[in-house]
Parts: sequence; structure tokens; C-alpha cells
Amino acid sequence: MMNDAIKPLAWLLGRWQAEKGQGVYPTISDFKYGEEVEFFHVGQPNVQFSFYSWNPETKRPMHREIGFIRIKPGTNKVALMCAHNFGVSEVQEGEVTENRLQAETVGITRMSFAKDPETKKVSRIFCRTDDELEQVVSMETSNTPMTEHLRIKYKKVQ
Ligand code: HEM
Repeated sequence: MMNDAIKPLAWLLGRWQAEKGQGVYPTISDFKYGEEVEFFHVGQPNVQFSFYSWNPETKRPMHREIGFIRIKPGTNKVALMCAHNFGVSEVQEGEVTENRLQAETVGITRMSFAKDPETKKVSRIFCRTDDELEQVVSMETSNTPMTEHLRIKYKKVQ
């Protein structure tokens, strides 16, 4: 049964898929990607998530991320804990409404031998409209100020 604490996140729950994600950044070539996203709960006051992306041509796995979301009880304040496969972990905080979640890095740690440039800050927005979920991710690195990196629209598959 869903814990009352995560009811404001109910609109995110389920499995979502997209084939046409768009990646950009001033320092790299534009790219396309596919991604499957899952948000689920096990009755605890947190939502667990996974983001698994792939190259649409070769189908090879690309960026992968797993984590948890919690809500500060009695508020619309939300916190995400994310572990990225390229050696970075971060906590993001922000706000959730009835169809939108916005959060930004408040703390970040990277493996000492993670690839440069350093990710300094990540900002993400999820927005749900009917059976579609859009995510826009921007980031700041040691070389580049906060700039869009990802834009993707998922369809619900489960
Ligand atoms: C490059 C971070 C998600 C694909 C980069 C770079 C960083 C980064 C720091 C290097 C930029 C530079 O050289 O100036 C992140 C973060 C993500 C994320 C923090 C999630 C919040 C993704 C996703 C994909 C992706 C979902 C799609 C599959 C790429 C590609 C490059 C890149 C293709 C360029 C090649 C490379 O450096 O490996 N990303 N990324 N990223 N990212 Fe992401």
C-alpha cells in the first residue's frame, strides 16, 4: 500500500519509455538517446527510481542512474538522492506540485578518478501532461555554466 508521505509523487509512479531523447551541451556534439525510467515504492515513505539510457542505433547502454525521492513531511519540499554510473553521487532538493517536480543539486561527491570535467550542479524538471512525462536536465561543470544537457518526453508503458 502506498505510504501517505509519498502521495504527492503518485503522478510519477510507473514505467516510462522514450526513444527520442535529445542531448546537447556546448562542449560536445548533439546526440540522441533512448531511456527507460521507473518510479516505484515498496510501502515506505520514499520512491525509488532508475533511469537507464541507451544509444538508439547500437542499443548499447549509456548513462545509468538510480536513487530515492523523499518528501519533507507536511510540505511540498522534495529531496532526491542520485547515484550516476560515471562516478558521481548527488542530493538534489526542490519542490513538487500536482504535475511538476523541480530540483537542483545541494550536495555532490565524485570518485577521485571520475572523468573530467567535474559536474558541479545538476538541475532537473519533470512535468506530466496526460500520459506523457517530460524531463529537462541542465548542468554546470568545472568548464561550463548551467546549460541544458537533456530533453526527453516519455510515454507510460506500465
Ligand atoms: C557528456 C554529465 C546524463 C550522454 C557529459 C559530461 C558531463 C555529463 C559532465 C561532459 C561534458 C563536457 O565534456 O563538457 C551528465 C549528468 C547527467 C547526464 C550529470 C544526468 C543528470 C546523460 C544521459 C545521457 C548522456 C542520460 C544519454 C545517454 C552524454 C554524452 C556525452 C555526455 C553522449 C558526451 C560524450 C562523453 O563525454 O561521454 N555528461 N550526463 N548524459 N553525456 Fe551526460
